[in-house]
Amino acid sequence: MRYIFSPTVFLYRLLVTELLCLLLVIMSSGWVSNLTFLFKKGIFMVVKRILSGMQPSGNPHLGNYLGAMRQHIEMQDKGDCLYFIANYHALTTLRDGAVLREKTRELAMDYLALGLDPNKVAFFVQSDVPEVTELAWILDTIAPMGLLERAHAWKDAKAKGKKGETAGLFNYPVLMAADILIYQSDIVPVGQDQKQHVEIARDLAGTFNSIYGETFKLPKPFIKKEVAVVPGTDGQKMSKSYGNVIEIFAPADVLKKQVFAIKTDSKGVNDPKDPATCIPYLLLALIVEEKEKLEFRTQLEEGGIGYAQLKTALFEKLLEYFGKAREKRFELENKLDFVEDVLKEGAKKARKVAKETMETVAKKVGLR
Ligand code: ADP
Ligand code: TRP
Repeated sequence: MRYIFSPTVFLYRLLVTELLCLLLVIMSSGWVSNLTFLFKKGIFMVVKRILSGMQPSGNPHLGNYLGAMRQHIEMQDKGDCLYFIANYHALTTLRDGAVLREKTRELAMDYLALGLDPNKVAFFVQSDVPEVTELAWILDTIAPMGLLERAHAWKDAKAKGKKGETAGLFNYPVLMAADILIYQSDIVPVGQDQKQHVEIARDLAGTFNSIYGETFKLPKPFIKKEVAVVPGTDGQKMSKSYGNVIEIFAPADVLKKQVFAIKTDSKGVNDPKDPATCIPYLLLALIVEEKEKLEFRTQLEEGGIGYAQLKTALFEKLLEYFGKAREKRFELENKLDFVEDVLKEGAKKARKVAKETMETVAKKVGLR
């Protein structure tokens, strides 16, 4: 048989071989990380915008970390992330300027100590992008009263009595919607209690788009099931406002007190116990490896481990789990200029995006 050389066929075969090789390299060295890399490099142009905020209204606790902050930090490699300290929102409960300033700086240090990398995300203070309040007003003009009246946070405040009932608290979800929409966010990682607020943001984006034409992306909450509601020391959801917290950066003696305040029943060391209702176990299970989790579980079910022993184990595991972060947090106390610079730089990046959105919005509604 005679072999005829054809340049077209040759080039075609070369291309197919190259494509196969590329596919092999991607597959052999881990699909996900390579694809993420390609996504991040913009080759496939589907980089998602990830946004979240946290109020500087107290010290971060295990619920905040596991339910939200850990995801924020993990996701910094998975998209275009913007995270901020929600000081405008904190005004609804905090009425001391010096304290708010201090708590804002502290929360910035907490995030950085926990591993937030300012080279990967825009990290800033909410009020350094004042455009968000302008958007909040515009959204207020289209937000149905009924939608806001159904918000859990508002209903809770009302149930607790008149003190919390301010217009600021009522409009809290609208400001949060402005936060989310102004940055054209795709994904909002939060704990379960914020799900409804993200849904309100999505609703308001839809309403605005239907009145003024396609303007906002429709955001989605991202909630990790296993840590959607981390229990507090009394068994209710852990929350700053319930006084049932375990604070991740508390001095060791305070941390120990908080751990030992966990409610348990009166079963003795040798009594079998139900892991599903044992709070120290439920918290331990969230921070230890699977193997250790199973060991504690078996010991509980069979009897042989007491609550004091379990709480000591939790206390020690917490010190170990947050050991590096606690050290770094201490170091950051002497690097306040660095922290300020990070926030300033983050605000610059965020404000650029916010201004672009506001320009479009102002034109659409007729303000400019
Ligand atoms: P708190 O209820 O203590 O005031 P925040 O409202 O400041 O907490 O919440 C900050 C973030 O932490 C939110 O995304 C929220 O959903 C999450 N979060 C707070 N408490 C918990 C919890 N117990 N379990 C899971 N996530 C939580
Ligand atoms: N309301 C949120 C909380 O209490 C904080 C917050 C404000 C937020 N604006 C946001 C969270 C936008 C996500 C997106 O935790």
